[in-house]
Amino acid sequence: MNSEIKNKKKLQVNIRAMTKNDLAEVILLERNIFPDPWSYEAFEEQIEIEGWGGLVAEGDGQIVGYACYYIVNDEAHLTNIAVDSNYRRKSVAKQLLENILKVVTERNCEFILLEVRPSNEKALKFYEKYGFHVLYRRPNYYRKPLEDALVMVCYLS
Ligand SMILES: CC(C)(COP(=O)(O)OP(=O)(O)OC[C@H]1O[C@@H](n2cnc3c(N)ncnc32)[C@H](O)[C@@H]1OP(=O)(O)O)[C@@H](O)C(=O)NCCC(=O)NCCS
Repeated sequence: MNSEIKNKKKLQVNIRAMTKNDLAEVILLERNIFPDPWSYEAFEEQIEIEGWGGLVAEGDGQIVGYACYYIVNDEAHLTNIAVDSNYRRKSVAKQLLENILKVVTERNCEFILLEVRPSNEKALKFYEKYGFHVLYRRPNYYRKPLEDALVMVCYLS
């Protein structure tokens, strides 16, 4: 049986801002989860620039998920969201996304954009559940492996 379905119970996590002290742990997760992981420097830059932010989800005494975003004028971008494979289908990403949607809505953003691989069915299902839909397809956007990106949007009320 798929372990992601087995672990149904919600894990109540503590969501807080990502700091430089979290990056070693975040990078370990990032490398385990993505075929084309971000570098330490990419995260470091992202949490230090005005308008950019990162959140971590802590549960079971460790970081079990994280998400990053940036804001330009009234436009927000979700740059990544990921959950430790041992803690999936426990609403961790849901809690991260809800926090980000709250932050960007309070900052008067009208919509939030993201890119996702068309082959990433789990992420597509997750995003669709929370109000994102596909705007257009951007050819050859991803590397390792090469793949188009679907650009998705969620309008914020
Ligand atoms: C996509 C991802 C972030 C979801 O994290 P998660 O914590 O497991 O998601 P949640 O438990 O909050 O899921 C909320 C809802 O999204 C949908 N969903 C999430 N994962 C799903 C899956 N594998 N299959 C189908 N629907 C899924 C479900 O509707 C789920 O609600 P339910 O569990 O009550 O049915 C996680 O699978 C992940 O880290 N994937 C690898 C990294 C990645 O691809 N990130 C996105 C890059 S664009």
